[in-house]
Amino acid sequence: MSRIDKPRTQHQNTDKSRLLEQLDEDIQELNQLKQKIKQLEEEKQLKEQQLEQLDTTSAQVPSVMFNTTYREYRQYDLAYNRVKEFYKEQHRYQTVAYNIQARINFKTKVRDKMTIWDALLKLNHLLDESDPDTELSQIEHAFQTAEAIRKDNKPRWFQLVGLIHDLGKLLYFYESKGQWDVVGDTFPVGCRYSTKIIHHEFFKDNPDYKNPLYNTKYGIYSPHCGLENVMLSWGHDEYMYHLAKEQSRLPPQALAMIRYHSFYPWHQEGAYKYLMNKKDEEMLKAVKEFNPYDLYSKTDVKCNLEEVKDYYIELIDEFFPKKVIDF
Ligand SMILES: [Fe+2]
Ligand SMILES: [Fe+2]
Repeated sequence: MSRIDKPRTQHQNTDKSRLLEQLDEDIQELNQLKQKIKQLEEEKQLKEQQLEQLDTTSAQVPSVMFNTTYREYRQYDLAYNRVKEFYKEQHRYQTVAYNIQARINFKTKVRDKMTIWDALLKLNHLLDESDPDTELSQIEHAFQTAEAIRKDNKPRWFQLVGLIHDLGKLLYFYESKGQWDVVGDTFPVGCRYSTKIIHHEFFKDNPDYKNPLYNTKYGIYSPHCGLENVMLSWGHDEYMYHLAKEQSRLPPQALAMIRYHSFYPWHQEGAYKYLMNKKDEEMLKAVKEFNPYDLYSKTDVKCNLEEVKDYYIELIDEFFPKKVIDF
């Protein structure tokens, strides 16, 4: 019997689900806002340059122009405080030793056996049984992302990535130690932490921070060794990537989208270029193409599951021919 089926109390799962869901939404919101602020700052700079070129009377106009920027900053601040505590834990506990152990656990155990479709329903049930007020359920996010990709006539494997990219969150109900090894931005372990990682200051509490094996620029890696050879902090992305790599026919770009979708320091901030090889350049393009669908596909229009079910079951079967998957 897997841990997920053990007779846990409803109450236990309820609290757990609510915590993860809430935090995950905050992290997503924060990543959205970070990107938006970056964009707004560029626009603001441009506007300021334009204003400098205008005469003094028109130069008095600008205050309203920056209202949006201020609002965005306020929202960012609120989400920022909620998420800060999370990153304090994540940066402290994501050590090389923990990551090796997590991979051993992954390879030596089967936590569940079910179809991808049933796994989607299970995740949805586990995370939402408790929280009817959740803005967007897991399954809604999965289908909205997939449907947005489908609407843009992207390849079938790309649509499937939309559907399953967050399925690894099931990990939270199997053997995770907390939220810090399921969600949040990811980063390489075993080499120096980039200052581009959100709240990098918290890494000083991580024992690896002072370990000379792990705290140099390359640490246990070599220049341009390729991200395939780099251990990324363990969470839903890594878990789902390894699972899909072993049990699906998804192409490398699809696997990269799954594996790196929370690797914001890399795909948005340009960190760790010195670990990339030629293949990673291609993968980066793919991950960047996926990111807007993950962040901005939320709509209030509910997806009719019965209407799309046949389409997606066929899509899943095309790339997961084994049907019943080892989770
Ligand atoms: Fe995710
Ligand atoms: Fe997502």
